[in-house]
Amino acid sequence: MSSNATSTSQTTPSPSTPTRAHSSAARCTAVVGLQWGDEGKGKVVDLIAPAFDAIVRYNGGANAGHSVVVKGERYALHLIPSGIMHPGKLAIIANGVVIDPEVLLKEMDGLAVRGVDCSGLIVSSRAHAVFPYHKAEDELRETLLSRARSGVSGPSSQAIGTTKRGIGPCYADKAHRATAVRMADLARISVLRGKVEMACALKNALVHGLSLSSGEAPGESKARTFTPDEIMAWAEPLARRLAPITRDTTYLLHDMLAQGKSLLFEGANAALLDVDHGTHPFVTSSSTTALGIPSGTGIPGSRIGETIGVCKAYSTRVGNGPLVTELLDQIGHGIRERGREYGTTTGRPRRVGWLDLVAVRYSAMLNGVSSLALMLLDVLSGIDELRVCVAYEIDGERTDRFPADADELARAVPVYRTLKGFGEDITKAKSRADLPSGARTYVELIELTVGVPCGIISVGPDREQTIQA
Ligand code: IMP
Repeated sequence: MSSNATSTSQTTPSPSTPTRAHSSAARCTAVVGLQWGDEGKGKVVDLIAPAFDAIVRYNGGANAGHSVVVKGERYALHLIPSGIMHPGKLAIIANGVVIDPEVLLKEMDGLAVRGVDCSGLIVSSRAHAVFPYHKAEDELRETLLSRARSGVSGPSSQAIGTTKRGIGPCYADKAHRATAVRMADLARISVLRGKVEMACALKNALVHGLSLSSGEAPGESKARTFTPDEIMAWAEPLARRLAPITRDTTYLLHDMLAQGKSLLFEGANAALLDVDHGTHPFVTSSSTTALGIPSGTGIPGSRIGETIGVCKAYSTRVGNGPLVTELLDQIGHGIRERGREYGTTTGRPRRVGWLDLVAVRYSAMLNGVSSLALMLLDVLSGIDELRVCVAYEIDGERTDRFPADADELARAVPVYRTLKGFGEDITKAKSRADLPSGARTYVELIELTVGVPCGIISVGPDREQTIQA
């Protein structure tokens, strides 16, 4: 165990163990994305992390891409909580995350080479592991879906546009149970072998079946065949390296709260990609909102005192699914280039649109957001007229509610408020008063419409380029 880690006992409570009292000094804060991801959660976590004892990931996997810029150097994190940049803190990957062990170790090694101390990193023994067959299944499903038709007149592609990181298949196995591998299983080689044998039999049947369905002739399947020996040879060295940092994080987190320590929960992906509350089926496979914290960590929702909703000053989306305010013109192109809107995980260009406050207000409601962090405001500088979507018109009816159905959302026509833009460079603004009036009006419209104040306004990628209210 690292010298940085908070010491906690791993005792199993006896039936007579009293209900654990939580210290009133303990504080739980959540940082969540309010749009379709890539809002800048990594920067917000990095900014406020000094006030916490542990930074905890509770959902998603290596599909997430959190960028942190420290002293001009950019760090791209996929699995490790952004709080790792602060030595002396615990960085905990809790049970709700699906972990690709290979990606995690690469990320740890990459940080170590750059001098980042990873000794505070702890992984939940209950978290599920992503295996190579999950990625193969993810890829094949997408190929198959991209050739499917929805009805006679429907769109020709039903693909979700996943990151192909095996996220959906791994969460599906968690629900299927028998072949799922948890991080604790990785260290128990005989248990692991049994699961891997079962999984290989099942996955081979599945991937070969999927490749036949995608048009390959029987006997000519190009799908890979997975053998238990090959998978074990892949898993064993990874398992050996991860075993020392794998623990029961549920007790660890509760012990920390009992000791008066403070926890920062770092959401991955974002509210509108939530498997229950997002634009299903164009979503990821986890509970991305603050509602996912209790199941993804074992900490009850009643413990969460503050939720910061991170919102980009415009909209972006990677992958398929409706984006009501999408900009396919030069303005969108300019925002993409100035905002460096290319996926941290896949490098895909992100789709760009005007800010959609119908969507943001819905996400803020779901998450119980107490303050907003408005990100990338500087990217809008130089646009003559800014538009903000304040309502939708769906089938001729005006509404300010976000529809549950993706088809209905796809029919929504945005109702815009148009504001005068700002031409000034705001990247050196230190307070709201330093912002030009066009930028201030923009911020005020967001606060008024969402009904939540902005505690943070980001005017550039660096830690220093931040206005804190
Ligand atoms: P999956 O999570 O790889 O299954 O992908 C499902 C959908 O969520 C795809 O449209 C992805 O592009 C999107 N997605 C997943 N994670 C992120 C993220 O961190 N940022 C943006 N989009 C994401």
